[in-house]
Amino acid sequence: MANISVKLGNRSYSIGIASQTWEGKLPLLLNKHTNIHGRTFVFYDAQLFALYGSRFRTAMKRNSSKTFELTLPPGDRSKSFSQLSRVYSFLLEHKVSRADLLLACGGGATSDLVGFAAATILRGVRWGIVSTTLLGMVDAAVGGKTGINHQLGKNLIGAFWQPSFVLCDTDFIYTLPKRQIIAGLGEIVKYAGLADNAMLDTLEKYLSTGDLLHQRYLVKLIRLSIQYKAAIVSRDECDSGIRTILNLGHTFGHAIEKSLGYGRLLH
Ligand code: GLY
Repeated sequence: MANISVKLGNRSYSIGIASQTWEGKLPLLLNKHTNIHGRTFVFYDAQLFALYGSRFRTAMKRNSSKTFELTLPPGDRSKSFSQLSRVYSFLLEHKVSRADLLLACGGGATSDLVGFAAATILRGVRWGIVSTTLLGMVDAAVGGKTGINHQLGKNLIGAFWQPSFVLCDTDFIYTLPKRQIIAGLGEIVKYAGLADNAMLDTLEKYLSTGDLLHQRYLVKLIRLSIQYKAAIVSRDECDSGIRTILNLGHTFGHAIEKSLGYGRLLH
C-alpha cells in the first residue's frame, strides 16, 4: 500500500492507497486511531452500503471499539442542513464524546458532510475517511475542506478540519458507474495540467489504453494526484495563497451546478 503524508504539523496525517486490501487495513487503522474508551460512528453513502455494507460490517467486527452506523443519501443531496441536523441528532442521541471517532465511508459529498459534523459537534471530534469514488480520492479526501451547500451557493458553509487518516482502495472504483469515473478524471486532468509533464505523460498513456479501469495507470494517477494536492495543502492549508490554484474551473462549475440544482451535474 502506498502512503502519502499531508504534512501539517500536529494535524499531519497519512493517506493510504490500497488495491483490494481495505478490509484488512480498515480495522488496523481504526484500532490505531480510536481512543481506548472511544466508539466509532460510521456514516455510509447509501449506494455504497447497498453494494459493500456486509463487507464493511465484517471488517468493522475486527475493530475493537463499539460501532454505530447511519446511512446518508448518495451524492450532493447529503450536503444539506437537514442531513447535517440528522447526523447531529444521531450523534447526540448516542451521547457522542470527544473520545469518539467519526468515519465517513463514501465519496466527497459524504466526507464533506461528516467532516463538517466532526468539526462542529462538541467543538470538534476526530474523524477518518474511507474514500470510495475516484473524485473523492483525488479531491475531497485530501486537505480537510468540509462543509454543506446553501441555496445561495455550493460549499458556502464549512470548516477546515483535517481527518486523522484516509484510506483509498481501487476496489471501489470497479463498481462505479462510468459517469462517476469520468467525473474523477476531470479532476485528474486538472492536476495533470497544473503539475508537470510526467503526470501528463502518465495520463496520456492511460487514456491511450482505452481502458478506464486500467489498474496500473489508475493507481499511478491516483497517487500522483494525491501527492500533488497534498504538497499544495501542506504549503497553504486554508486556501489563502497557492491552494487557490486548485479551484481552477470550479468557479464556472459551481455556478452551473447552482443554476441547475445540486446533484444534477457531476464534477
Ligand atoms: N478542491 C479544492 C481544494 O480542496 O482546495
